[in-house]
Amino acid sequence: MDVFDAIKKRRSIRAFKSDDISSEIVEKLLEAASWAPSAGNIQPWEFIVIRKPEIKEKLAEAALSQTFIEEAPVVIVVCANENRSSQGYGVRGKTLYCIQDTAAAIQNIHLAACSFGLGTSWIGAFREEEAREILKIPNGVRPVAIIPVGFADESPPPRKRRPLNQIVHYETF
Ligand SMILES: Cc1cc2nc3c(=O)[nH]c(=O)nc-3n(C[C@H](O)[C@H](O)[C@H](O)COP(=O)(O)O)c2cc1C
Repeated sequence: MDVFDAIKKRRSIRAFKSDDISSEIVEKLLEAASWAPSAGNIQPWEFIVIRKPEIKEKLAEAALSQTFIEEAPVVIVVCANENRSSQGYGVRGKTLYCIQDTAAAIQNIHLAACSFGLGTSWIGAFREEEAREILKIPNGVRPVAIIPVGFADESPPPRKRRPLNQIVHYETF
């Protein structure tokens, strides 16, 4: 699938079949993530791959009871290593670059998954401290997104986009 097709075909999927995903596919998703751009090539991302039902269940609870998360055979939590970014770029690295870098990695996971015929969603609504405890995430590393990955059990229609003439500015704002 070409990149533009994946961009247009990707949807947030919130219902998953129980079919498993191979570790090889999960590694391909993580490889795609690792090829994202990052400020100064610092690559401040960390990935936690979760398959254990009891951890998925706790995570879904921390994500304000978005229970479809636990339906997915694999959940990837993408974290930003603030320490790495701040060592390179101080406050701007910690507060901005590491979030931008991990967001680029997250999007690569979504697009790669779409190209493999898998469904994902980007979960940003979760109680951060609770997720940190469940996953034993150390200080200086911030969980940014929870991504359930699996075969879609729904085909949602595309959600509306703001038209280009409302969002694009030429030369000045
Ligand atoms: C930063 C961020 C946080 C999000 N958090 C959630 C979430 O907690 N739960 C959820 O179901 N979808 C979440 N989404 C998905 C959006 O709702 C979705 O991308 C948007 O409605 C557009 O739909 P589409 O992804 O199908 O194109 C999030 C997306 C982003 C980028």
